[in-house]
Amino acid sequence: MRTLRLSYQPWNYKRGSAGKKFEHALKAHFEYDAVTFATGREALLALLQSFHLPTGSEVIVQGYTCVVVPNAIHAAGLTAVYADISEDSLNLTVESVEAVITEKTRVVICQHTFGISADAKALRALCDEKKIYFIEDCAHVLPDTDGPQEILRHSDFAFASFGRDKAISGITGGAALSRNQKVTLELRAMYTHAKDLSFWEIVKLLEYPARMRNIVRPLIGKGLAGPALKVLKALKLFTPILEPEEKEGTMTRTLHRMPNVCAELAMWQLSKLKQINDHRRKIAGIYLEHAKSVGWPMLESLATSRQPPAASTILPLQKFPMFLKNASHVRRELKKKNIHLDDGWTGCVVCPDDVDMSATGYLDGSDPHAESASKRILSLPTHPTMTEEQARELIEILDPLIHHA
Ligand SMILES: Cc1ncc(COP(=O)(O)O)c(C=O)c1O
Repeated sequence: MRTLRLSYQPWNYKRGSAGKKFEHALKAHFEYDAVTFATGREALLALLQSFHLPTGSEVIVQGYTCVVVPNAIHAAGLTAVYADISEDSLNLTVESVEAVITEKTRVVICQHTFGISADAKALRALCDEKKIYFIEDCAHVLPDTDGPQEILRHSDFAFASFGRDKAISGITGGAALSRNQKVTLELRAMYTHAKDLSFWEIVKLLEYPARMRNIVRPLIGKGLAGPALKVLKALKLFTPILEPEEKEGTMTRTLHRMPNVCAELAMWQLSKLKQINDHRRKIAGIYLEHAKSVGWPMLESLATSRQPPAASTILPLQKFPMFLKNASHVRRELKKKNIHLDDGWTGCVVCPDDVDMSATGYLDGSDPHAESASKRILSLPTHPTMTEEQARELIEILDPLIHHA
């Protein structure tokens, strides 16, 4: 509704007061200076550029990440080096980072995969010891007053995404977060020179929710949603999350401003962050309780939380991950029932699975835990439109499939 109302105010699309207000709101919430850009990947690029590192400096990133992360590293003239993850948390560990540190390492990017907090304190300590910049990638989660406490506490630099499926959404958007005055000034200078998205690009983004609601979703049951999406893309009426060139490893160095209208949407969502996270906690809690009671194979870090976990200790997961030997088979069976759990994070160490791996710098076999996890993972949705009833229905459908896994 809010998107619809804002779409009737074309004079407010590109520029206005929302961007600055949103940056102030981010600062008030997270205690970092915030500078907004059109996407999280651009915010990361801006941060990396603000460090002025020698070309070819190495940036450690985890195996099991999105291709836009190494793309931003490469666009900044740096080299992505992959460290393995722990299969207990889907995140970096001190040991896996130490294993790939060289004298060229200048940055470590710590991703809190799907909202599971990485051990940011220990990773920061390692980075301080080695004089390496430490960046938190908060694309999958933003903390509220109930946590996760470890996130956005131990870093001087971080970035957030306000894309469609993120912790809070402005349909598109990102923010570079800094606790270093010099870097903040650099970021502000980059923002001043950043371009606006075109009017047409903004219209397409604003119409995305309505197109999904009115055209794509009604066709899901009829098996026509995929073709409808292809037609919308071919007619350039739909902005994909990843452009074809990005899947080939390319990102331009041009930075764009977050459209004013998207900043206004994201600011409204930020004011409801606790509510949005609580919804994710509730849905994740339903999966967790059931998973524990019937022994679903899930992540150790989730399984060993307090019994029964207090509502506030459940993580606001972006999705609830499990490991199955036959995850693809389960997804195919669910698809027959019109339940689509393909989220682009399966079967790939640099995701999605149709990325040109030769452009990512990942060497096959170098992160065995990431490879193994990505093959066996099945992630259950927790998104804001999902109801508790739908989560329970999904559990009921999944149970017989998982027992035969
Ligand atoms: C782990 C991770 N980091 C960064 C990003 C970048 O966010 P954005 O889509 O806003 O560029 C994404 C999402 O695409 C992501 O999944």
